[in-house]
Amino acid sequence: METITRKKQIEAVSGWWNSNQVVKWDKQYDEWDSHTVRSLNRRLEKVLNFVDVLKLPKGAKVLELGYGAGQTSLKIGQRGFEIHGVDISEKFSEIAKQRCARECPEGKFYFKTGNIESRLEYEDDTFDIIVTSGVLHYLYDDDACLKEAYRVLKPGGHLIIAQRTAYALNHFLSIRPFLCSCLYFFLREKYELFHSFKAIFCDSKLGIIFGRYENSKFFNTKFMLKGHDVWKYKLKKKLYSNHRLKALCRRTAFTPLKLDGAYYCVSDDKKYFEFNLKVDDFFERLSAKRFFHFVFHLARITVVLSQKK
Ligand SMILES: C[S@@+](CC[C@H](N)C(=O)[O-])C[C@H]1O[C@@H](n2cnc3c(N)ncnc32)[C@H](O)[C@@H]1O
Repeated sequence: METITRKKQIEAVSGWWNSNQVVKWDKQYDEWDSHTVRSLNRRLEKVLNFVDVLKLPKGAKVLELGYGAGQTSLKIGQRGFEIHGVDISEKFSEIAKQRCARECPEGKFYFKTGNIESRLEYEDDTFDIIVTSGVLHYLYDDDACLKEAYRVLKPGGHLIIAQRTAYALNHFLSIRPFLCSCLYFFLREKYELFHSFKAIFCDSKLGIIFGRYENSKFFNTKFMLKGHDVWKYKLKKKLYSNHRLKALCRRTAFTPLKLDGAYYCVSDDKKYFEFNLKVDDFFERLSAKRFFHFVFHLARITVVLSQKK
């Protein structure tokens, strides 16, 4: 069980997002495996729903923290808003600038590179909306990031967060993800685990007991390693639940207003993709009904709308 420090995490995240992987991520909303395409587009759709609900006038200022290849910023910019962004990846910065210039030449896009855990180079009370989608789990200090977001947001402005969560439907339907969720719940794990028995025993808090055997033959059998991944970059992904996301917003002075879910699936396995689509449509329709809205808790991704009051 490896411990992380701020420096190590930032170096690993920056290394990962400046690696050649970025080129692949540039295409993730259109061309990656259909499962990823569907979940990312659902997430984007939900973020845009919250943007649209706010009915801001054209020219309103929006900041995206961790804009990646610019797909979310582009869609918001196409609504006539002025888009600003900060991302740690220089490679992504170039890709995002090119995408937005190419696909929305009339838009106003100002992308910077920088660490969103540090002081943001904007005046107090600048933005109408701040969006951060699929980013917070890479941070060492998410409180520091949201405190800065609070400072640069106008009073009455809104923060939209989209994050993968710990207790999605698919976690209850297969053994390894289910055991991971049990550890998340009972041991209050701070970081996501790979869905492998090795990770369950060695990378969780159980690592205090089993960690010393992680290099043993037994923990490196095919069975124990199924679902495991080996990262060249030693980054840890923070774990969120709906409860943790709301608590994070409240700790940093935001008032959570609404939560919604994006993408319901039974399994990440490609062979279930067609079935996933049916499940997703079913839960989507169910959660749209007021009485059944609570089913959003089973979605893979939670989208939270908060306000600086
Ligand atoms: C999964 S991508 C999400 C990109 C985009 N928000 C989207 O929805 O497609 C995560 C992004 O967070 C950025 N990121 C991670 N840690 C960061 C940090 N400390 N400061 C700035 N950006 C960071 C990465 O460079 C990457 O672009």
